[in-house]
Amino acid sequence: MKQKPLIIANWKMNLAGSEVDRWLEKFDANDPAVSQANVIICPSFVFLEKLAHHAKGTGLAVGAQDLYWEDKGAYTGEISGKQLIDIGCQFVIVGHSERRKLFGETDEVVNAKALSALQYRLRPIICFGENYKEKEEGQTKKVIVDKVRENFKDIRSTDARKVVIAYEPLWAISTSTEVEEPIADSPESAQVVHKLIRKTVAELYDDNVAKEIRIAYGGSVDSSNVASFAAMDDIDGVLVGGASKEASSFQSVVSEFVEKN
Ligand code: PGA
Repeated sequence: MKQKPLIIANWKMNLAGSEVDRWLEKFDANDPAVSQANVIICPSFVFLEKLAHHAKGTGLAVGAQDLYWEDKGAYTGEISGKQLIDIGCQFVIVGHSERRKLFGETDEVVNAKALSALQYRLRPIICFGENYKEKEEGQTKKVIVDKVRENFKDIRSTDARKVVIAYEPLWAISTSTEVEEPIADSPESAQVVHKLIRKTVAELYDDNVAKEIRIAYGGSVDSSNVASFAAMDDIDGVLVGGASKEASSFQSVVSEFVEKN
């Protein structure tokens, strides 16, 4: 029996006002499948407090989509881990490929953000994956091992076990512009990468940390393919973008994953 899966909804910059209320009305947070998983909703910053309030007493947890590494000061427009924890956040996504690509975030920045999150007892969800060119050139393994090493720099072993890794091949994300028609990775090839990530974590820390660390897959996951990812030994959860915008489709992703886990 595997650990409880982590099923993460990344709404990105979608849903506003009444759409959020409708989503919350439609999603059944008391469904038994929800209590058999760790279900994390990551809305835009402005809805975090509402979500945290709604999540109280349910099986849901709330995550932000980003943070800044300083705790306070003259950083107009930024939000700190200290502020996120204050409003009931438990998780924070760092280094999503859209932030790396559109906002120039480097591995150094991602690492600083992860370290800052951990300092405030927020669990970082560190995202990385190879791009299409790297995949085609057979560089995936090297890229992934380097990402683990660089993104985990200076993270102590007691903290490393709280980190969630999201393996997201860039070309598989449903809105990716790298390929004409993005499709999900095959569960078998994602499993190979997840196993490599776990091995790299074991080398950096030890077998216990590697066993405890949660590794989720992201990239065009929906209710039709999630069960085949759930069946893989080293896939501990999923990060869902497009299919999390509708409460009903995200609910199906949760039920399908839990059933297959
Ligand atoms: P997708 O997005 O599920 O729409 O492919 C995943 C992500 O970008 O996190």
